[in-house]
Amino acid sequence: MEDKEARLTMMHLANLISVPMALHTAVKLDIPDLIWQGGANLPISPAQLASLIRAKFSLATEPDAVNLQRILRLLASHGVFEEVPDHGNPPAKAFRLTDVGRTLVTDDQGISLGAYVLQHHQDALVQAWAYLHKSVLDSSQEAFKMAHGVSSYEYYVKDSACNSLMQRAMSGVSVPFVRALLDSYDGFGSEGLKTVVDVGGSTGSCLAMILERYPGLHGINFDLPEVVADAPQYQGVTHVGGNMFESVPAGDAIFMKWILAGFSDEECHKIMENCHRALPEKGKLILCEPVAPENTDASVRTRALLVGDIFLMAMYKSLHRAESEYRKYGEAAGFSNFRSLDVDPYFTLMEFLK
Ligand SMILES: C[S@@+](CC[C@H](N)C(=O)[O-])C[C@H]1O[C@@H](n2cnc3c(N)ncnc32)[C@H](O)[C@@H]1O
Repeated sequence: MEDKEARLTMMHLANLISVPMALHTAVKLDIPDLIWQGGANLPISPAQLASLIRAKFSLATEPDAVNLQRILRLLASHGVFEEVPDHGNPPAKAFRLTDVGRTLVTDDQGISLGAYVLQHHQDALVQAWAYLHKSVLDSSQEAFKMAHGVSSYEYYVKDSACNSLMQRAMSGVSVPFVRALLDSYDGFGSEGLKTVVDVGGSTGSCLAMILERYPGLHGINFDLPEVVADAPQYQGVTHVGGNMFESVPAGDAIFMKWILAGFSDEECHKIMENCHRALPEKGKLILCEPVAPENTDASVRTRALLVGDIFLMAMYKSLHRAESEYRKYGEAAGFSNFRSLDVDPYFTLMEFLK
């Protein structure tokens, strides 16, 4: 590569923080929903969008259309919006959502990936990033704990706004995933399976979807007492508050999604042992976790898993592990059978039998 190309690439990398910050701004100002307009998704100029934002948030003054356009252009270059030439006089730019941007639109159940964007860029997490290099120099504490003195989960449960944003963020990622999972995986329909426990199930929205598909099942949504206290009621779902490091409720199958990635090796062993104890002979543990890619390349999948891994380093003192690591946890906990299914590019489904 020529020097000037190398410098250009580094100038891009050095300012890449502008991308998530612009994305955060777009979600905070509700731009995806304002453009989507119930499916119309018509190209809209920054000036028109500024008026919509003003009305939506009852602002005293109009937002700055020029700054708005700068945000939209950057995100268009990253595939969130499509920039469409406007043939007005004078000609202007107009923007509509791409399929990628569409994931930020709130659906009729209030679900979107927008909450995940907001959760990941709230002040407490942004402040913690400044400590990332310190957690490389001394891995005994994650950046979040260095910045705030407590772990992220301790922090979330103490602040109700933070807690509810975390729950919305989890649903925003997990509901579309479980919807797709149920179309390709039939493991919840096994004979004799009556009770499913969702360990770390947050508000229970994923379990509710599983029960909708398999109405004969009973579901136990298990999470921290502070989390289940505010959880909505779902048909067939019993909420149970507790600590998975002590024990988990008994069931014929355990669904555990996006839990182990947040914890240390020792903690993962403990959780897997408690799951094993809670299952009957031939009971099933259905684990869904992001799995570290084998190879390093520039694909979106590899990058999504690697950026997620650094997020875990900073916020949870944990990591994305290889599939072989999960297999070892299962064997150490006493599970005898393992298979993995490629149901989604981000989450791998791993099934363990007792
Ligand atoms: C990353 S979220 C995943 C939520 C959900 N399984 C999903 O995939 O959307 C991790 C969940 O683990 C819960 N959790 C953390 N520590 C826990 C503990 N000690 N006992 C039970 N649940 C816990 C959190 O409250 C949170 O809901």
